[in-house]
Amino acid sequence: MIVNENTLVLGIETSCDETAAALVLGGDDVISSVVSSQIDLHAEYGGVVPEVASRAHLESLNPVVARAIVEGGIDESRIDAVACTVGPGLIGALLVGVSAAKALALAWDVPFVGVNHLEAHLYASFLENRTLQFPLVVLLVSGGHTMLVEMRDHGDYHLLGRTIDDAAGEAFDKVARYLDLGYPGGPAIDRASEAGDPDAIRFPRAMMDDGLDFSFSGLKTSVVNHVRRDPDVSSVDVAASFQQAVVDVLVHKAMRAVREVGATGIVLGGGVAANRLLRSEISAACDAAGIGAFLPSRAMCTDNAAMIAAAGWHRLRAVGASPLDMGAFPTMPLIEGAGRR
Ligand code: KG4
Ligand code: ZN
Repeated sequence: MIVNENTLVLGIETSCDETAAALVLGGDDVISSVVSSQIDLHAEYGGVVPEVASRAHLESLNPVVARAIVEGGIDESRIDAVACTVGPGLIGALLVGVSAAKALALAWDVPFVGVNHLEAHLYASFLENRTLQFPLVVLLVSGGHTMLVEMRDHGDYHLLGRTIDDAAGEAFDKVARYLDLGYPGGPAIDRASEAGDPDAIRFPRAMMDDGLDFSFSGLKTSVVNHVRRDPDVSSVDVAASFQQAVVDVLVHKAMRAVREVGATGIVLGGGVAANRLLRSEISAACDAAGIGAFLPSRAMCTDNAAMIAAAGWHRLRAVGASPLDMGAFPTMPLIEGAGRR
Protein backbone atom coordinates (compact mmCIF):
# COMPACT_ATOMS: atom_id res chain seq x y z
CA MET A 1 0.00 0.00 0.00
CA ILE A 2 1.30 3.46 -0.90
CA VAL A 3 1.10 5.81 2.06
CA ASN A 4 1.23 9.49 1.13
CA GLU A 5 -0.34 12.90 1.74
CA ASN A 6 -3.68 11.61 0.42
CA THR A 7 -3.85 8.68 2.82
CA LEU A 8 -6.78 9.16 5.19
CA VAL A 9 -6.53 7.41 8.57
CA LEU A 10 -9.32 6.95 11.11
CA GLY A 11 -7.82 7.01 14.61
CA ILE A 12 -9.48 5.45 17.66
CA GLU A 13 -8.46 5.98 21.30
CA THR A 14 -9.95 4.19 24.33
CA SER A 15 -6.94 3.54 26.59
CA CYS A 16 -8.21 5.38 29.67
CA ASP A 17 -11.15 7.70 30.25
CA GLU A 18 -11.62 9.43 26.89
CA THR A 19 -13.46 7.82 24.00
CA ALA A 20 -12.06 9.47 20.88
CA ALA A 21 -12.12 9.17 17.10
CA ALA A 22 -10.50 11.36 14.47
CA LEU A 23 -9.78 11.57 10.77
CA VAL A 24 -6.29 12.71 9.76
CA LEU A 25 -5.11 13.17 6.18
CA GLY A 26 -1.49 12.64 5.20
CA GLY A 27 -0.29 12.22 8.80
CA ASP A 28 -0.78 15.84 9.87
CA ASP A 29 -3.99 17.36 8.51
CA VAL A 30 -6.76 16.96 11.09
CA ILE A 31 -10.09 16.63 9.23
CA SER A 32 -12.13 15.92 12.35
CA SER A 33 -11.43 15.09 16.00
CA VAL A 34 -14.11 14.04 18.48
CA VAL A 35 -13.40 13.41 22.18
CA SER A 36 -16.04 12.18 24.60
CA SER A 37 -14.74 12.54 28.14
CA GLN A 38 -15.85 10.29 31.00
CA ILE A 39 -14.58 12.73 33.64
CA ASP A 40 -18.05 13.24 35.15
CA LEU A 41 -18.57 9.47 35.50
CA HIS A 42 -15.34 8.98 37.43
CA ALA A 43 -15.41 12.22 39.44
CA GLU A 44 -17.58 10.80 42.20
CA TYR A 45 -14.96 8.07 42.81
CA GLY A 46 -12.04 10.54 42.72
CA GLY A 47 -10.25 8.50 40.05
CA VAL A 48 -10.77 6.34 36.98
CA VAL A 49 -12.70 3.12 37.72
CA PRO A 50 -11.61 0.59 35.06
CA GLU A 51 -14.93 -1.28 34.83
CA VAL A 52 -16.89 1.97 34.51
CA ALA A 53 -14.45 3.12 31.83
CA SER A 54 -14.88 -0.04 29.71
CA ARG A 55 -18.68 0.17 29.82
CA ALA A 56 -18.67 3.85 28.91
CA HIS A 57 -16.33 3.20 25.96
CA LEU A 58 -18.72 0.48 24.73
CA GLU A 59 -21.63 2.92 24.78
CA SER A 60 -19.81 5.89 23.30
CA LEU A 61 -17.49 4.45 20.69
CA ASN A 62 -19.91 3.92 17.79
CA PRO A 63 -21.52 7.36 18.09
CA VAL A 64 -18.08 8.98 18.48
CA VAL A 65 -16.75 7.27 15.33
CA ALA A 66 -19.93 8.19 13.44
CA ARG A 67 -19.57 11.82 14.51
CA ALA A 68 -15.93 11.96 13.42
CA ILE A 69 -16.97 10.73 9.96
CA VAL A 70 -19.95 13.11 9.69
CA GLU A 71 -17.95 16.10 10.94
CA GLY A 72 -15.18 15.19 8.48
CA GLY A 73 -17.76 15.48 5.70
CA ILE A 74 -16.52 12.36 3.94
CA ASP A 75 -17.95 9.03 2.93
CA GLU A 76 -16.55 6.13 4.94
CA SER A 77 -15.40 4.46 1.71
CA ARG A 78 -12.74 7.21 1.54
CA ILE A 79 -10.98 5.88 4.71
CA ASP A 80 -7.69 4.14 3.86
CA ALA A 81 -6.73 2.65 7.25
CA VAL A 82 -7.92 2.32 10.85
CA ALA A 83 -5.38 3.06 13.61
CA CYS A 84 -6.07 2.32 17.26
CA THR A 85 -4.25 2.51 20.59
CA VAL A 86 -3.18 -1.03 21.58
CA GLY A 87 -1.34 0.02 24.79
CA PRO A 88 -0.39 1.03 27.35
CA GLY A 89 -3.67 1.52 29.21
CA LEU A 90 -6.52 -0.20 31.02
CA ILE A 91 -6.93 -3.63 29.46
CA GLY A 92 -10.75 -3.63 29.35
CA ALA A 93 -10.83 -0.10 27.94
CA LEU A 94 -8.18 -0.88 25.32
CA LEU A 95 -10.02 -4.00 24.16
CA VAL A 96 -13.17 -2.02 23.31
CA GLY A 97 -11.23 0.20 20.90
CA VAL A 98 -9.05 -2.55 19.48
CA SER A 99 -12.02 -4.84 18.75
CA ALA A 100 -13.98 -2.05 17.10
CA ALA A 101 -10.98 -0.91 15.03
CA LYS A 102 -10.34 -4.43 13.77
CA ALA A 103 -14.02 -4.92 12.92
CA LEU A 104 -14.10 -1.66 10.95
CA ALA A 105 -10.85 -2.52 9.15
CA LEU A 106 -12.28 -5.92 8.20
CA ALA A 107 -15.63 -4.50 7.11
CA TRP A 108 -14.03 -1.77 4.99
CA ASP A 109 -11.22 -4.05 3.80
CA VAL A 110 -8.49 -1.60 4.83
CA PRO A 111 -5.36 -2.07 7.00
CA PHE A 112 -5.51 -2.08 10.79
CA VAL A 113 -2.63 -0.31 12.58
CA GLY A 114 -1.88 -0.86 16.28
CA VAL A 115 -0.47 2.31 17.86
CA ASN A 116 1.53 2.85 21.06
CA HIS A 117 -0.28 5.56 23.05
CA LEU A 118 3.01 7.10 24.22
CA GLU A 119 4.36 7.36 20.68
CA ALA A 120 1.09 9.01 19.70
CA HIS A 121 1.58 11.71 22.37
CA LEU A 122 4.91 12.54 20.67
CA TYR A 123 3.02 13.09 17.42
CA ALA A 124 0.50 15.56 18.84
CA SER A 125 2.97 18.42 18.25
CA PHE A 126 3.53 17.48 14.64
CA LEU A 127 -0.17 17.97 13.95
CA GLU A 128 0.14 21.64 14.74
CA ASN A 129 3.74 22.27 13.78
CA ARG A 130 4.88 20.73 10.55
CA THR A 131 8.26 22.42 10.52
CA LEU A 132 9.77 20.54 13.49
CA GLN A 133 13.40 19.59 12.96
CA PHE A 134 15.27 16.70 14.56
CA PRO A 135 16.87 16.05 16.96
CA LEU A 136 14.18 17.07 19.43
CA VAL A 137 13.79 16.52 23.13
CA VAL A 138 10.28 15.42 24.05
CA LEU A 139 9.06 15.94 27.59
CA LEU A 140 6.17 13.50 27.92
CA VAL A 141 4.25 14.16 31.13
CA SER A 142 0.93 12.42 31.69
CA GLY A 143 -1.05 10.67 34.39
CA GLY A 144 0.82 7.42 33.84
CA HIS A 145 4.19 8.53 32.47
CA THR A 146 6.95 11.05 32.87
CA MET A 147 9.82 10.74 30.45
CA LEU A 148 12.42 12.66 28.51
CA VAL A 149 12.93 11.26 25.03
CA GLU A 150 15.40 12.20 22.35
CA MET A 151 13.58 11.99 19.01
CA ARG A 152 16.19 11.61 16.29
CA ASP A 153 13.75 10.89 13.49
CA HIS A 154 10.28 9.47 13.00
CA GLY A 155 10.22 6.18 14.88
CA ASP A 156 13.78 6.71 16.20
CA TYR A 157 13.59 7.37 19.96
CA HIS A 158 16.14 7.27 22.71
CA LEU A 159 14.99 7.29 26.33
CA LEU A 160 16.97 9.90 28.29
CA GLY A 161 15.17 9.74 31.63
CA ARG A 162 11.94 8.75 33.34
CA THR A 163 10.32 8.80 36.73
CA ILE A 164 11.52 6.22 39.19
CA ASP A 165 8.21 6.35 41.13
CA ASP A 166 5.08 8.49 40.54
CA ALA A 167 4.32 10.15 37.22
CA ALA A 168 4.02 13.96 37.33
CA GLY A 169 0.27 13.83 36.59
CA GLU A 170 -0.20 11.20 39.26
CA ALA A 171 1.46 13.56 41.78
CA PHE A 172 -0.90 16.37 40.70
CA ASP A 173 -3.89 14.05 41.08
CA LYS A 174 -2.84 12.73 44.50
CA VAL A 175 -1.99 16.15 45.94
CA ALA A 176 -5.26 17.63 44.62
CA ARG A 177 -7.21 14.80 46.23
CA TYR A 178 -5.36 15.33 49.51
CA LEU A 179 -6.08 19.07 49.41
CA ASP A 180 -9.71 18.42 48.39
CA LEU A 181 -9.35 20.60 45.32
CA GLY A 182 -11.39 18.41 42.98
CA TYR A 183 -10.99 15.95 40.13
CA PRO A 184 -9.11 15.68 37.86
CA GLY A 185 -6.28 16.99 39.98
CA GLY A 186 -3.99 18.60 37.38
CA PRO A 187 -6.44 21.23 36.13
CA ALA A 188 -7.68 21.78 39.72
CA ILE A 189 -4.16 22.58 40.98
CA ASP A 190 -3.47 24.68 37.90
CA ARG A 191 -6.58 26.78 38.69
CA ALA A 192 -6.07 26.94 42.46
CA SER A 193 -2.45 28.04 42.00
CA GLU A 194 -3.59 31.25 40.31
CA ALA A 195 -4.65 32.53 43.73
CA GLY A 196 -1.69 31.09 45.65
CA ASP A 197 1.91 32.12 46.35
CA PRO A 198 4.40 29.75 44.67
CA ASP A 199 7.13 30.86 47.10
CA ALA A 200 5.05 30.33 50.25
CA ILE A 201 6.54 26.89 50.98
CA ARG A 202 9.87 25.59 49.75
CA PHE A 203 9.07 21.98 48.81
CA PRO A 204 12.00 19.73 47.82
CA ARG A 205 13.15 19.43 44.21
CA ALA A 206 14.15 15.77 44.10
CA MET A 207 17.16 14.57 42.10
CA MET A 208 17.62 18.06 40.66
CA ASP A 209 21.27 17.63 39.72
CA ASP A 210 21.20 13.89 39.54
CA GLY A 211 20.91 12.69 35.92
CA LEU A 212 17.73 12.88 33.87
CA ASP A 213 15.45 10.62 35.91
CA PHE A 214 12.65 12.06 38.03
CA SER A 215 11.11 11.26 41.40
CA PHE A 216 7.82 12.76 42.63
CA SER A 217 6.69 10.54 45.47
CA GLY A 218 8.85 12.35 48.06
CA LEU A 219 7.32 15.68 47.03
CA LYS A 220 3.83 14.30 47.57
CA THR A 221 4.88 13.09 51.03
CA SER A 222 6.35 16.53 51.82
CA VAL A 223 3.01 18.13 50.97
CA VAL A 224 1.17 15.74 53.28
CA ASN A 225 3.70 16.28 56.11
CA HIS A 226 3.52 20.05 55.71
CA VAL A 227 -0.29 20.13 55.90
CA ARG A 228 -0.24 17.82 58.94
CA ARG A 229 2.18 20.14 60.73
CA ASP A 230 0.25 23.27 59.74
CA PRO A 231 -3.43 22.34 59.22
CA ASP A 232 -4.45 25.99 58.79
CA VAL A 233 -2.09 26.55 55.87
CA SER A 234 -3.76 28.08 52.82
CA SER A 235 -4.42 25.26 50.34
CA VAL A 236 -3.93 27.56 47.36
CA ASP A 237 -0.43 28.39 48.66
CA VAL A 238 0.30 24.67 49.03
CA ALA A 239 -1.02 24.04 45.50
CA ALA A 240 1.03 26.87 43.99
CA SER A 241 4.21 25.88 45.86
CA PHE A 242 3.76 22.21 44.88
CA GLN A 243 3.17 23.13 41.23
CA GLN A 244 6.26 25.36 41.24
CA ALA A 245 8.39 22.50 42.60
CA VAL A 246 7.19 20.08 39.90
CA VAL A 247 7.67 22.62 37.12
CA ASP A 248 11.15 23.64 38.35
CA VAL A 249 12.35 20.03 38.12
CA LEU A 250 10.70 19.35 34.75
CA VAL A 251 12.11 22.50 33.13
CA HIS A 252 15.59 22.09 34.65
CA LYS A 253 15.92 18.49 33.43
CA ALA A 254 14.41 19.19 30.00
CA MET A 255 16.96 21.98 29.43
CA ARG A 256 19.78 19.74 30.57
CA ALA A 257 18.59 17.08 28.11
CA VAL A 258 18.61 19.69 25.33
CA ARG A 259 22.25 20.54 26.07
CA GLU A 260 23.24 16.86 26.24
CA VAL A 261 21.81 15.95 22.82
CA GLY A 262 22.14 19.30 21.04
CA ALA A 263 18.39 19.45 20.34
CA THR A 264 16.81 22.11 18.13
CA GLY A 265 13.87 22.39 20.48
CA ILE A 266 11.61 20.90 23.12
CA VAL A 267 8.28 19.26 22.36
CA LEU A 268 5.77 18.90 25.18
CA GLY A 269 3.32 16.01 25.29
CA GLY A 270 0.82 14.39 27.67
CA GLY A 271 -1.92 15.81 29.85
CA VAL A 272 0.40 17.73 32.21
CA ALA A 273 1.64 19.66 29.16
CA ALA A 274 -1.64 21.58 29.48
CA ASN A 275 -0.30 23.11 32.71
CA ARG A 276 -0.04 26.88 32.35
CA LEU A 277 3.05 27.35 34.53
CA LEU A 278 4.91 24.53 32.76
CA ARG A 279 4.07 26.03 29.37
CA SER A 280 5.20 29.52 30.26
CA GLU A 281 8.40 28.41 32.01
CA ILE A 282 9.40 26.02 29.21
CA SER A 283 8.78 28.77 26.65
CA ALA A 284 10.87 31.25 28.63
CA ALA A 285 13.74 28.75 29.09
CA CYS A 286 13.71 27.84 25.38
CA ASP A 287 13.68 31.52 24.37
CA ALA A 288 16.65 32.19 26.64
CA ALA A 289 18.52 29.22 25.11
CA GLY A 290 17.63 30.25 21.55
CA ILE A 291 15.82 26.99 20.73
CA GLY A 292 12.23 26.22 19.79
CA ALA A 293 9.44 25.42 22.23
CA PHE A 294 6.70 23.37 20.62
CA LEU A 295 3.63 23.31 22.77
CA PRO A 296 0.59 21.48 21.44
CA SER A 297 -2.75 23.16 22.14
CA ARG A 298 -4.34 22.01 25.38
CA ALA A 299 -6.79 19.81 23.42
CA MET A 300 -3.91 18.02 21.73
CA CYS A 301 -1.99 17.55 25.01
CA THR A 302 -4.68 15.44 26.62
CA ASP A 303 -5.86 12.14 25.17
CA ASN A 304 -7.34 12.41 21.68
CA ALA A 305 -7.53 10.31 18.53
CA ALA A 306 -5.95 12.76 16.08
CA MET A 307 -2.56 11.92 17.58
CA ILE A 308 -3.39 8.20 17.21
CA ALA A 309 -4.27 8.63 13.52
CA ALA A 310 -1.06 10.67 12.97
CA ALA A 311 1.15 8.07 14.67
CA GLY A 312 -0.76 5.37 12.76
CA TRP A 313 -0.03 7.08 9.43
CA HIS A 314 3.72 7.16 10.23
CA ARG A 315 3.69 3.54 11.40
CA LEU A 316 1.77 2.41 8.31
CA ARG A 317 4.32 4.16 6.09
CA ALA A 318 7.39 2.89 7.96
CA VAL A 319 6.37 -0.61 9.08
CA GLY A 320 3.06 -1.42 7.37
CA ALA A 321 -0.20 -2.81 8.73
CA SER A 322 -0.48 -4.71 12.02
CA PRO A 323 -1.77 -8.29 12.13
CA LEU A 324 -5.45 -8.67 13.01
CA ASP A 325 -4.55 -11.08 15.81
CA MET A 326 -2.58 -8.35 17.59
CA GLY A 327 -3.68 -8.07 21.22
CA ALA A 328 -3.95 -5.17 23.66
CA PHE A 329 -1.12 -4.42 26.08
CA PRO A 330 -1.70 -2.86 29.53
CA THR A 331 2.02 -2.13 29.79
CA MET A 332 3.90 -1.20 26.66
CA PRO A 333 7.14 0.75 26.73
CA LEU A 334 7.77 3.47 24.16
CA ILE A 335 11.11 1.88 23.49
CA GLU A 336 11.41 -1.90 23.72
CA GLY A 337 13.05 -3.00 26.95
CA ALA A 338 13.07 0.51 28.41
CA GLY A 339 9.81 0.81 30.27
CA ARG A 340 8.97 -0.07 33.81
CA ARG A 341 5.84 2.07 34.06
O1 KG4 B 1 -2.29 12.32 28.81
P1 KG4 B 1 -3.45 12.26 29.72
O2 KG4 B 1 -4.73 12.91 29.26
O3 KG4 B 1 -3.80 10.80 30.11
C1 KG4 B 1 -2.78 9.86 30.33
O4 KG4 B 1 -2.35 9.24 29.32
O5 KG4 B 1 -2.37 9.76 31.53
O6 KG4 B 1 -2.98 12.92 31.10
C2 KG4 B 1 -3.84 13.03 32.20
C3 KG4 B 1 -3.06 13.69 33.34
C4 KG4 B 1 -3.82 13.70 34.65
O7 KG4 B 1 -2.95 13.29 35.68
C5 KG4 B 1 -4.20 15.16 34.81
O8 KG4 B 1 -4.34 15.56 36.17
C6 KG4 B 1 -3.04 15.86 34.15
O9 KG4 B 1 -2.76 15.06 33.01
N1 KG4 B 1 -3.36 17.22 33.73
C7 KG4 B 1 -2.75 18.32 34.23
C8 KG4 B 1 -3.39 19.44 33.66
N2 KG4 B 1 -4.36 18.99 32.81
C9 KG4 B 1 -4.32 17.61 32.87
N3 KG4 B 1 -1.74 18.44 35.13
C10 KG4 B 1 -1.35 19.70 35.45
N4 KG4 B 1 -1.93 20.81 34.96
C11 KG4 B 1 -2.94 20.74 34.06
N5 KG4 B 1 -3.50 21.85 33.57
ZN1 ZN C 1 -2.29 9.95 27.35
